[in-house]
Amino acid sequence: MKTIKKLTLIIATMLFAISPLTISAQRSLDDIKEDGKITMATSADFPPFEWTIMQDGKLTIVGIDPTLAQKVADKLGVELEIQDTSFESIVTQVTSGRVDFAAAGMTSNEEREKVVNFSDSYYQSKTAFVVPKDAVDQYSNPEDFAEKVIGVQKGTIQESLAKEEYPDAEIISMNKNGDLVEALKTGRVDAVMMDVIVVGEFVAQNADAIAQVDGVELEQDDNGFAMITHKNNEELLAVMNEVVQEVVESGEIEEIFKEYTELNAEMQSNE
Ligand code: ARG
Repeated sequence: MKTIKKLTLIIATMLFAISPLTISAQRSLDDIKEDGKITMATSADFPPFEWTIMQDGKLTIVGIDPTLAQKVADKLGVELEIQDTSFESIVTQVTSGRVDFAAAGMTSNEEREKVVNFSDSYYQSKTAFVVPKDAVDQYSNPEDFAEKVIGVQKGTIQESLAKEEYPDAEIISMNKNGDLVEALKTGRVDAVMMDVIVVGEFVAQNADAIAQVDGVELEQDDNGFAMITHKNNEELLAVMNEVVQEVVESGEIEEIFKEYTELNAEMQSNE
């Protein structure tokens, strides 16, 4: 009898461990307040939304998203802990309750809306192309990439878009945007697809080597950049929405964009 009970317990524990989606692992606002800390996931390779700089001798994650996330933490009166991870794993980190929310320049679309809750949006983007500077004249419309080697970040909408739009291209997916830029410089890929504002930031930092293909942008059918939280966490979603509404309505969002675009311009390199 005892052994059977033990076995049942072991099996139950195993099932629990392998089905994180079926359990509601998210923490309530009370849990978070009691803990005194809220956790946010991001992929800090995406200036001006999030990247790392040396601040007072310490590697620090800065940008538009950490600023919004800090406002969420401030509203709850708790400390913000940012976890830098691969973009690809962010949705799972949220659905499994490993973090309370995420702010990662994440585009709100139907597929993702099925598994996580998106806040109101704070930016509408398009996808742009970045190529080696000496090749930029070869490109003047989206079809010019049909048979090229295209780099994209893993798990992004650009990865899906590239696969859909360019079935004859070779698509190379990487975890970090910095590695994609390196791959462009070394000729491993012909082009990289990224959100347009981020392309601008990387080009500004590497102006001698890479360039944006002017006037070639892919429109997307989506709801813009937003923060995400667990499907069941309506309470936290309401706080995130309050933050977005306040900065958008007051116009503060423009100041935040300006601040981090300027900060990135001052930096020699993001790496
Ligand atoms: N907006 C794109 C998406 O949601 C790319 C986001 C990449 N974000 C990042 N922090 N690297 O798929």
